[in-house]
Amino acid sequence: MRNVIIAGNWKMYKDLRETAELLDGLKSLLKSVKPHVTAVVCPPYTSLALAAEKLRGTPVRLGAQNMWHQDEGAFTGEISWKMLKSAGCEYVILGHSERRQYFGETDELINAKARKALVNGLLPIICVGETLAQREKGVTSQVVSAQVKGVLAGLTETDMAKVVIAYEPIWAIGTGKTATPAQAQEVHHTIRQLVGEMFPTHVADQLVIQYGGSVKPDNAAELLAQNDIDGALVGGACLKADSFASIVNASK
Ligand code: PGA
Repeated sequence: MRNVIIAGNWKMYKDLRETAELLDGLKSLLKSVKPHVTAVVCPPYTSLALAAEKLRGTPVRLGAQNMWHQDEGAFTGEISWKMLKSAGCEYVILGHSERRQYFGETDELINAKARKALVNGLLPIICVGETLAQREKGVTSQVVSAQVKGVLAGLTETDMAKVVIAYEPIWAIGTGKTATPAQAQEVHHTIRQLVGEMFPTHVADQLVIQYGGSVKPDNAAELLAQNDIDGALVGGACLKADSFASIVNASK
């Protein structure tokens, strides 16, 4: 059985007081998780150190929402892998559609970030997904495949054991419109097949592919029951302790 990873992307929500409140709630609800399940929270940068302290001794892991692809330097407003690691992060979300849309991130840049994260021991959660217009034109599979090829370019088999891919149809993010389990499964299957062509089969078999886009406590179990769906990247529903905990517990 593949591992299941449920990650909460807090986006630009929660100051320090709210962070403490949410994590106290999560700590009491997630005292233990199923052995093959990993729960990850990705708060904003300003909350990372506090979150690391709060999560010590719990099964909940820590991640960041982005990073820059160089070690250090004159990059005002950016953050490095080293800073994230020293704040206690194990994971980093890369190439979220909001980064692509509002901050001009390309597959090439996301690939550079993924390589930098991997070389330095951070586990990347790399996002791909089509727009509504692309889905309606019937080019979902081509769009997502091109993104997957771009973001994974040059990665080795060893790297791939540490990579998580998040399939997030952009039209389903924050809209309340979830892809149906069958729609999501179809794209997840395409991604796994493609990874199987790019790397040895066992790499594709072991790859964790998360679904993201309006995952909620009431649709999580059905999505996670699909063959090729191995987790979730959760936005809105991770901002409340009870709903995030119930998604973590919904996994097969
Ligand atoms: P959502 O966001 O769950 O609010 O749709 C998902 C995401 O952007 O990762």
